[in-house]
Amino acid sequence: MFKNDFPYFSNSDIVYLDNAATTQKPKEVITSQVEYYEKYCANTHRSSFGDANKATLNYENARKTLQKFINAPTKEQIIFTKGVTESINFIASSYAKKFDKVIISSLEHHSNIVPWHMQGRTLGEGLEVVSCNDNLDFDFVEYEDILKQNPNSFVSITHISNAFGKIHDIKAIIKLAHKYKSVVMIDGAQSLAHMNIDVQDLDVDFFAISAHKTFGPTGVGAIYVKESLLKELEPYQTGGATIHEVDFLSSTMLDSPYKFEAGTQNIAGVIGFAKALEYLEKVGYEAIMKQEHELYEYLTDQLSKLPNIIFYNDTEDSIGSKSFNFKNIIHDDIGILLDKMKIALRVGHHCAQPIMKQLNIKGTIRVSIAFYNTKEDIDKLITALKKALDMLR
Ligand SMILES: Cc1ncc(COP(=O)(O)O)c(C=O)c1O
Repeated sequence: MFKNDFPYFSNSDIVYLDNAATTQKPKEVITSQVEYYEKYCANTHRSSFGDANKATLNYENARKTLQKFINAPTKEQIIFTKGVTESINFIASSYAKKFDKVIISSLEHHSNIVPWHMQGRTLGEGLEVVSCNDNLDFDFVEYEDILKQNPNSFVSITHISNAFGKIHDIKAIIKLAHKYKSVVMIDGAQSLAHMNIDVQDLDVDFFAISAHKTFGPTGVGAIYVKESLLKELEPYQTGGATIHEVDFLSSTMLDSPYKFEAGTQNIAGVIGFAKALEYLEKVGYEAIMKQEHELYEYLTDQLSKLPNIIFYNDTEDSIGSKSFNFKNIIHDDIGILLDKMKIALRVGHHCAQPIMKQLNIKGTIRVSIAFYNTKEDIDKLITALKKALDMLR
């Protein structure tokens, strides 16, 4: 019973099925942050007294934990950020802006669309969009065509759709991009909660990570950078702790990762994130994937029995999230009624309006599971959905 490891579940009688929005946190993630604030609260990389050294050590050990977790060659390739949103904005403005073309897919989160608009890129004008069909399959033929016409591009693609749970074959996407001398960033916001990531095996250039979607604290994330690209990467903000030497004529920067982490970081959050990764390691992805696979099948099976349900993608190649609607029922109404029945899920466009427009819908009802969810949670969801449907028909 994994729920016992998560204090939220002993304090709440809510059926929590909104894990794509944020995950619950295991006890050690919470206590490690409280311990930092209560016992050795000090800034990192600055002062040299005992508590400051301990804070720096734990912060840097967290970097090593993440490095090992995703099999990055060195810890200097791990740069902490506020989350995937900041990771993408960072790489967009400090590296990708020099590319003539940025290639995304039609299944992206707004975090991987709006930063490109901010650079003045729009469809066909610096921005190319690879179609995903109405089953959300990535169009590899169109992708290769775009790459052939635009070699030396910057490709930025989500791994797992937060809106539908669809998994993109990122290994194939990365391989094809490299064939056409392009550089690839993967939005891994939804990845680590569900599956093992090996950045060397993927041969990915940039991989964006979110702690709060991976059982860690909010306001923390990271970007993995391939070693050969570190030299080309400019800081997109500067300030304290990034600088080697400053006078009024010039300043010289420290090496990576320090030159990219300007200002006081979310020290407690980073330390807590490492605890989340250690916890995940203890549970193991084998157990996580087995539990989630069974749950996802059960969820799909039970939902399929409900009248007039509309699904948008097949269960194969999907993980975590399941999105649906009911014919002639407004998804917002379901959300309001389910909330009253203590079922927590998200209804709406899930920060993915372009794909909703393509499917000609305003949004969906999204159930997003984590390995701590149970069949009992799904049963409660189905009972509540039946009640809500009876009320609305
Ligand atoms: C696919 C995807 N990309 C990016 C983000 C933004 O992540 P963060 O909250 O870490 O900034 C999210 C969050 O919902 C997401 O699901």
